Amino acid sequence: MTAIDPMGELLLVGNWKMNLGVREARAYLGELARLFTPSPTGRPDAAIAPPFTTLGALHEEITKIPGLMLAAQNVHWVPAGAHTGEVSPSMLKELGVSLAIIGHSERRQHYGENDSDVARRARNALEHDIRPIVCVGESLTAFELGDSERVVARQLMESLNDLTADDAKSLVIAYEPVWAIGTGRAATPDLIEKVHQRIRLLLIELFGLPGESVPILYGGSTTPENIGAIVRAPGVAGALVGGTSIKAEQFVRLIEEARKARR
Ligand code: PGA
Repeated sequence: MTAIDPMGELLLVGNWKMNLGVREARAYLGELARLFTPSPTGRPDAAIAPPFTTLGALHEEITKIPGLMLAAQNVHWVPAGAHTGEVSPSMLKELGVSLAIIGHSERRQHYGENDSDVARRARNALEHDIRPIVCVGESLTAFELGDSERVVARQLMESLNDLTADDAKSLVIAYEPVWAIGTGRAATPDLIEKVHQRIRLLLIELFGLPGESVPILYGGSTTPENIGAIVRAPGVAGALVGGTSIKAEQFVRLIEEARKARR
């Protein structure tokens, strides 16, 4: 199959997870303001996803860094109401958030989120003009059984069943094998390419033409050292970066290596 380059889009999203409170994040942003340069293409290619408290306290400082977008680590499926512990898309929109990670494997594994929750969260994000980054990925067992593509295809099918071809124009997918997250063992560019191709076929099957341009990211133990080979793999639009994104200097290095590899 010919590799489809989704508009040559490069997207690198730093998922801080439950790290960096307001004080630490202030120092991080100071460093970022010094080290980070906007994408030479003129189209923003990097985002950070801090915890909600940090997002709330520092969104103005963050939006002052040119070329850096803001992402949230989750978003709820209704606009407002009795949902203790949740955050709605309009609340995020107020802070300048343009992307939201949805269905991260940590949410699925430890907080019981399932494909149908993911579908509803993605739907509501889109209705509020926030691009959902829908995460899918197989367990270690599924990987060892050679079942990566099948498991990912099933998750994706169910996580996207509420979306239309028009929605697909704002959608982002992240392939994050659970066994590669935080383990120092990134998937090989070969496996990433194979799974991305399967995802692409499915997106086209579901959405037709708009399915061809949905950016598909990879996530799992990306570093400044391995990102070049990963974003050079056909069909890879960028990365969802965990551990490496928590240190500003490391994250900037990763962004630069990815840009260099795509030149
Ligand atoms: P990692 O996390 O880069 O620390 O492996 C990736 C993720 O969970 O998004």
